[in-house]
Amino acid sequence: MKHGEIINKKPVETGLIDYEKTSKEFSWEAVKKDLFTTPQNKVNIAYEAIDKHAQTWRRNKVALYWEGAEGVYEKYTFLELKRLSDQCANMLRSLGVKKGDRVFIFLPRLPELYISMIATAKLGAIAGPMFSAFGPDAVRDRLQNSEAKVLITTPELKERVETVLFELPKLEHIVVVNSKEDHEPEEGDVCYNTLMKKASDRFEMEWLELEDPLYILYTSGTTGRPKGITHVHNDMISHYITTKWALDLRDDDIYWCTADPGWVTGTVYGLWGPWLSGISSYVYDGRFDAGKWYEIIQTYNITVWYTAPTALRMLMKGGDELVKKYDLSCLRYMCSVGEPLNPEVIRWGLKVYNLPIHDTWWQTETGAIMIANYPCIPIKPGSMGKPFPGTKAAIIDGKGNELPAGQHGLLALKPGWPSMLRAVWGDEKRFKEYFNVNGWYATGDTAYKDEDGYFWFVGRADDVINTSGHRVGPFEVESALLEHKVVAESGVIGKPDAERGEIIKAFVVLREGFKPSQELEEELKKFVRHRLAAHAYPKEIEFCSNLPKTRSGKIMRRLLKARDLGLPTGDISTLED
Ligand code: WTA
Repeated sequence: MKHGEIINKKPVETGLIDYEKTSKEFSWEAVKKDLFTTPQNKVNIAYEAIDKHAQTWRRNKVALYWEGAEGVYEKYTFLELKRLSDQCANMLRSLGVKKGDRVFIFLPRLPELYISMIATAKLGAIAGPMFSAFGPDAVRDRLQNSEAKVLITTPELKERVETVLFELPKLEHIVVVNSKEDHEPEEGDVCYNTLMKKASDRFEMEWLELEDPLYILYTSGTTGRPKGITHVHNDMISHYITTKWALDLRDDDIYWCTADPGWVTGTVYGLWGPWLSGISSYVYDGRFDAGKWYEIIQTYNITVWYTAPTALRMLMKGGDELVKKYDLSCLRYMCSVGEPLNPEVIRWGLKVYNLPIHDTWWQTETGAIMIANYPCIPIKPGSMGKPFPGTKAAIIDGKGNELPAGQHGLLALKPGWPSMLRAVWGDEKRFKEYFNVNGWYATGDTAYKDEDGYFWFVGRADDVINTSGHRVGPFEVESALLEHKVVAESGVIGKPDAERGEIIKAFVVLREGFKPSQELEEELKKFVRHRLAAHAYPKEIEFCSNLPKTRSGKIMRRLLKARDLGLPTGDISTLED
């Protein structure tokens, strides 16, 4: 059975045709004019992405094809999404949510997740999407820092984080999304379905300034708790044009972004980006399974596919024969993000899918794709591509001087693109740290540029770990470990891994009276997994009697890593004894 109908009522727009010429003539003002078809003083991304299309021929076009893990599927047109999000916005308003309030969403990839993200934007409130894999500590840290007023979740997920809810005095309501009609919410909670039924499906949009906040996503740094990267409605200008030019999306596409909205890719390119251009988007709320993924492409006629290197490496492991069992001829464009895209994966993709995979580089902080391979330029396997038109990227030294082609340095961007982070929630100091190299925005990555202007990723300039595309701060894992009664000290590093890019490895010093054992190792893994998230626990634990530290007491993760990998230890002058 085929679910994806191909709609082609408008002439196919053309994407980026001439990179050099477009880059030269590019202006963000022109993009704005293209996006905002009617001149407006005030804006709202939800209007541009949903309500606007509900007033045109696209009203009956499918905006969202949704499939659950148990083979349930649904579809929603732009008009249906408009009405449902109006209803949801009325519901949230009835709970007292107003402009600027934080609404945190802790849901699997259910339609309600997408509906409540749109509804939150309609109210001018700020959405905080969270991975459904999060444990209580991860949820508590985010809700505490953002002072969220409302949490939208399921009964199962609520139960998982029950232990920390009393630590959130600012949280006024828990909205429970339950598939079972007869579900009685616990005392104090509100039932999503019941309130939705009562709410009107006509909502007066909150008209906003471009600089009003839209969403917060927490991401890891080297030290401290995760940072609340805050984005604004103005981001839509970047969302809109990068979706067209880097993902090459057109009106007749059926597009699949495999990312969860708890990751910036799933928020920006799983909902806003495609919908700003009125594209049909597919969402799968299930686990990775190579055969299932191919079946999705075949069944829904997926034409454009945005995924991550880890997934591609797992598909590669699934083998060539599996690919041949499916008709994937509908696919026409493939992109990847999150980690270095291995040249052998590109070559394999070319062989089995008959398509080149276009790597894209960006960050939670940049809010949109900054460097990419476009349909109109040749791909150099292993390179992230070239800066998006209107974006100035450079390789700099520690003082902010630009380095010539071929030289390794810090990857930096000239501030000013529309979707740049506007704040680290409640932390001006950490926000400013991004800009303290002579006016550049410092990405934390190291890279080099070649003679042709292509950028090549080298690594992180800091200790941040990238495991299967997830950014994990060693400090968070170390802190979680320290909460276990047997742990005296811990040091956490990223260890290279063929499938996941890196895995998390923890070195643990036990308290007096405790002995290393296989059971203890398993217990610690489970402990961190439960507190943080399934992707953030140490796959490897090594017990040791002490950790290398600087004279000021900081754990020298660099040294742990060098020793672990048998690499030169470099400068150890700050090492205590
Ligand atoms: C890494 C993801 C190599 C990089 C959208 C960056 C990449 C961090 C690539 C951001 C790529 C992202 N090649 N590395 N194409 N894309 N990264 O905030 O280290 O989760 O700084 O955003 O992922 O991770 P984040």
